[in-house]
Amino acid sequence: MYEIIDKINKLKKEKNAIILAHCYQNVEIDEVADFVGDSLYLSRRAKETNADIIVFAGVYFMAQTAKLLSPDKKVLLPRLESGCRMADMIDLEQVREFKSKHPNIPVVCYVNSTAEVKSECDMCCTSSNAIKIVKSMGAEEILFLPDTYLGKWVESQLGNVKIITYPGFCPTHLMIKPKDILEAREKYPNAKILAHPECHQEVTKLADFVGSTTGIMKYAIESNEKQFVIATEKGVVDRLKRDYPEKEFILIKENIICPNMKWNTLEDIYNALDKEQHEITVDEQIAKKAVKCIDDMLSVNI
Ligand code: 13P
Ligand code: SF4
Repeated sequence: MYEIIDKINKLKKEKNAIILAHCYQNVEIDEVADFVGDSLYLSRRAKETNADIIVFAGVYFMAQTAKLLSPDKKVLLPRLESGCRMADMIDLEQVREFKSKHPNIPVVCYVNSTAEVKSECDMCCTSSNAIKIVKSMGAEEILFLPDTYLGKWVESQLGNVKIITYPGFCPTHLMIKPKDILEAREKYPNAKILAHPECHQEVTKLADFVGSTTGIMKYAIESNEKQFVIATEKGVVDRLKRDYPEKEFILIKENIICPNMKWNTLEDIYNALDKEQHEITVDEQIAKKAVKCIDDMLSVNI
């Protein structure tokens, strides 16, 4: 493994490249990553970098977002087949149809969506800023897509905004059931239970804290508690266990894994960088409209 890490680091220097890695990636990817984090954090790093090449160790929409924010950079996705199953639940035609059923209502799209879908929306959000973004719109009603559960969670937190959601979902987070939380409470009565807002609302209702991947990590790191049950993708638990061995982190149940996030290997990253392959491109007209909703999001949040 050390050999390939050295080779990647050398290539990074030669080519003035950076590697961005989402915290659901295989944990060894961190050895070559310049930045590891959630989608909001990585979008910001993509926008600010002076590198010529960005290798995005994540899923397709994340690399596409990096391209939208850094159009002059070469953005590479190590494995082109690593799409987000939630993002793939809605296309351009389906957004248009959703909007036409509910005319004249502002549309917020979760960053887990394609550039085509974003180009039809008013504002973007991620799981870490969704409440703030919806609030900033100042509307009584919002259309929210594609994640129905993130939308419903935001609605429950704000209380005074009606959120009409598109019926998309994350198959990985929906594997977590309310009974898993109840069983964890019984088995680990002193543990704090932390959940991602992509979980079903019957799950988030039962958790002690709901937050994005880095929100969950921050909570666990800063808390004085010693034991945590984590209701999100396994990569979060792997990193917490590695970095904070003095605390105990329990994955809510086996196999809460996003298969598409796990495609990338160190070899794939090396090959992408070496051959400069799997470059992400976005149609200019689509990019123009899509980037606006991401930029608007970043300006609200800064
Ligand atoms: P974050 O915004 O927390 O990084 O989540 C992205 C994602 O795909 C979660 O499933
Ligand atoms: Fe998409 Fe779910 Fe995987 Fe996140 S965990 S990338 S929402 S399929």
